[in-house]
Amino acid sequence: MEVKIKKLVYGGKGLGKINGKTCFVPFVLPEETVEVEIVKEKKSFVECDLVSVIEPSPYRIDPPCKYFKYCGGCDYQHIPYEKQVDIKKEILEETLSRIGKIENLKIDKVIPSMEPFRYRNRTQLKIYGEKVGFYKRDSKEIVNIDTCLLLKEDLDKGINGVRNTLPFLTFQPVEAHLYSSNQDEMLVKFIYPRRIKRFPLGLKHLRQFISKNVKGVGIYRRKPDGYTERLFTIGNIFAFEKVEDITYRVSIDSFFQVNRFQVSNLINEVKGFFKDKKYKTIIDLYCGVGTLTLPVAEFSENVIGIESNPYAIQDANHNRKLNNIKNASFIRMESRDAVSIIEEKRPEAIIVDPPRTGLSKKIIEKINSTPSIEKVVYVSCNPSTLARDINLFKEGNFKLKSVSMIDMFPQTYHIESIILLER
Ligand SMILES: C[S@@+](CC[C@H](N)C(=O)[O-])C[C@H]1O[C@@H](n2cnc3c(N)ncnc32)[C@H](O)[C@@H]1O
Repeated sequence: MEVKIKKLVYGGKGLGKINGKTCFVPFVLPEETVEVEIVKEKKSFVECDLVSVIEPSPYRIDPPCKYFKYCGGCDYQHIPYEKQVDIKKEILEETLSRIGKIENLKIDKVIPSMEPFRYRNRTQLKIYGEKVGFYKRDSKEIVNIDTCLLLKEDLDKGINGVRNTLPFLTFQPVEAHLYSSNQDEMLVKFIYPRRIKRFPLGLKHLRQFISKNVKGVGIYRRKPDGYTERLFTIGNIFAFEKVEDITYRVSIDSFFQVNRFQVSNLINEVKGFFKDKKYKTIIDLYCGVGTLTLPVAEFSENVIGIESNPYAIQDANHNRKLNNIKNASFIRMESRDAVSIIEEKRPEAIIVDPPRTGLSKKIIEKINSTPSIEKVVYVSCNPSTLARDINLFKEGNFKLKSVSMIDMFPQTYHIESIILLER
């Protein structure tokens, strides 16, 4: 079946029509004519596989990775990086205009990643039998890989390193997670399907097998609910990141921004929104280890970070002391309970950096009904939930003042943006 691709949509696929019905096709470019095979038929759309490209776009390139299309990690390796960024910008514009109902929307700034490959400081490898790699697209089957072009060099070497440890392990782990900070300190997590009492290899062996950068290892059990439980650790489970004048401790179970070339750009963008005056109180919701909280402290008398992960809060408190930032404090709390803190502290500004699900209605309503809040800086990794939330902020008289797109995830469909809302 032949399809002409109109445009790419959020999720990485191209959109076309088959007999008047919308269809989605992966690994294509706008204006291409392609041959497809229907794999799933729904009421209002069909999902297709790409069979061949009949009329290629002039932008089409050969994907550099031999696993592209088999491995589910990348969506856009057939597109030159500059074009990927243009496409993401169009998708962001379209999503915010359509779902966020914003007229005459314009993206004020686009910040591409300095490097479109080797940017990731973190990876989660799946293990089954002798296979080590990532899941195939829409499947639980593992693509056995020996390299991933998105990974920082020491992590990339670590793929084979993990594979080489397997014959020496008494029980087989199901996943190995590697994280390597910008100071080249690597933390490794082995996830088991059940409780184990001891791990047969010491740090010395793991450094020989995986990387000389390994500093600490955590052994975990995957619980039936899907979450992991830390069983025990080996070595030092803290790594450090240095971003301009701030040093962050990031423990093995804390989040840190994944694109090592974009962390300082993200921080500087957020800081830029607070340079206009001295604030009394800023609240940073979903603060992680204080990545954004600590840099904005210089613009406020007080800054309060809120975060649910207890390890991240321990790191954030450590980082506050490590950097001698006395006007920052951190509270371990679920974001839904932060309404009480907003009520009590009456901040002038809020930073939010939620997971893909975006903000709860309850939090937005609280921000809307708190007159002291003049400004919301929203860091989003999902344009759809961002657009939904912008709509809700309108009820509090917030207006969209600026939109920046920061490409955190080159070669993938993911879109990160930073928006400013003001009353
Ligand atoms: C996208 S990260 C952002 C972290 C931080 N702003 C940064 O730049 O590193 C989201 C953070 O939200 C936290 N989080 C997830 N769900 C949460 C919830 N319901 N309440 C509070 N924090 C939550 C995660 O632990 C994670 O640290």
